[in-house]
Amino acid sequence: MDTYYTKDISLPWRRAVVSVDQFKKPDIDEIFALADRLSVGRTMPLTGKSIINLFYEPSTRTSSSFYAAMTRLGGSVIPINEVNYSSVTKGETLEDTIRTLESFTDALVLRHYDEDATERAVSVASIPIINAGNGAGEHPTQALLDLYTISKERDGLNGLNVTLMGDLKHGRTVHSLTKLLRMYDVKINLVSPPELSLPRFYLHKNDTEHRELGEVIADTDILYVTRVQKERFFDELEIDFSYSVTRSDMDLAKTNLVLMHPLPRVGEIPIELDSDPRSAYFRQVKYGLHVRMALLVALIGRD
Ligand code: CP
Repeated sequence: MDTYYTKDISLPWRRAVVSVDQFKKPDIDEIFALADRLSVGRTMPLTGKSIINLFYEPSTRTSSSFYAAMTRLGGSVIPINEVNYSSVTKGETLEDTIRTLESFTDALVLRHYDEDATERAVSVASIPIINAGNGAGEHPTQALLDLYTISKERDGLNGLNVTLMGDLKHGRTVHSLTKLLRMYDVKINLVSPPELSLPRFYLHKNDTEHRELGEVIADTDILYVTRVQKERFFDELEIDFSYSVTRSDMDLAKTNLVLMHPLPRVGEIPIELDSDPRSAYFRQVKYGLHVRMALLVALIGRD
């Protein structure tokens, strides 16, 4: 059995967002209702507040959507997106970095390559820490926006047949999303090469595992695709996987299929499918902005 860091799910998510395990259905309903309101509102509830984006790994969407969310709400952002230009290169520990930065801000958004990084940060911080991806562990804010996307695109979360395809072993978005989906009446299909299958830790007895998308595409309501996480492989020679959704797959799929991808994509969904109205991955990014606005208001919107 794979081993994962222990999550303190008794930690309230308003104190720090470490794992999706912290959220119950009413919490999710509350965040989604707030996201709905903020997506059409023009209020600035975070005027005078700030966050720090502290990213030890590359990011386009997560970093910039937290930035956009915060500034739209009237707040400001200190972006540390390239730790190579910080004192991390001098050997400063994560703990000392957090204890320093918390003097300057109301919350800290942290992406780190170590799976225990968020909990280490939480253990020394007196401000909310938001997990923006911890190694091959979790990506809880991405999973919330993925779930929000599904609820918007399909007007609900129950009775769906969800197929997760790609690098299910290392894909932290999939790890978090599977846990959230299990709160609802959802059937989960897993499509991956055997070497990249979902760790047993995240598997449920009702899940079905497949090698080919063709085995499940016709029944699928939501198709969630991820890239091979090359940066998680220790041996470059191991990386020899390629898969993609094809026009033929889409021809076999339901007319109301929702095709999702956390992005970046590196060939799993060809550009020719972008014009298919079922391709939702760029709408997914926009939904993410609204969910992150909601999370920021919930975490630091009250004194
Ligand atoms: N989906 C996602 O986490 O994208 P970034 O790595 O660009 O933040």
